[in-house]
Amino acid sequence: MRQVTLEKLYKHPIVQKYVNRSGMAHAIAVAEHAFDIATKTGVNPDLAAKAGFLHDIGHYKWYHENGEWDYQMYKRNDIHAIKGAARAHKLLVRLGEDLQDAKEIALAVLLHTDSYLPGGQLQLAPLQKVVAAADAADEEPGGNHHYRKIDYKTGLERVRILDKKIDRYLHSARLEQTS
Ligand SMILES: [Fe+2]
Repeated sequence: MRQVTLEKLYKHPIVQKYVNRSGMAHAIAVAEHAFDIATKTGVNPDLAAKAGFLHDIGHYKWYHENGEWDYQMYKRNDIHAIKGAARAHKLLVRLGEDLQDAKEIALAVLLHTDSYLPGGQLQLAPLQKVVAAADAADEEPGGNHHYRKIDYKTGLERVRILDKKIDRYLHSARLEQTS
């Protein structure tokens, strides 16, 4: 049994508040992609799906007073990955996540983008690569993936399905280990 499921995260008020800000539909799609990529690359799909789901939890919206989105201001000032890593970590620990896993997930959130980092090549760990690839797989031109909508019930159904897939995968991986 996983202590922290996607359903538990999804229902949490902190997640509803911040993940809806950056796009719940995008977060769920990235979690699904992360699961698929992780299972194909030997990465723990539980950690990948949670990191994918929470990767944009640190987003802040940069708006002008007239309500228009200011991309330049965002590019210059954004630290959503840093904020998101700290926010995801705090939430996971509070919900009882294994501390090593909480750290791994937070690091994958921190490094899912290099847009805020000084130039240079990052050496990403496999889990971090999975989350970055899952995010890129759901990206739409002009940042439109942040605006795709999903209603609460449909979102809940999707995360429940993904939770089941993760449980099934971890269960059969455990059986393989013991046989
Ligand atoms: Fe994203």
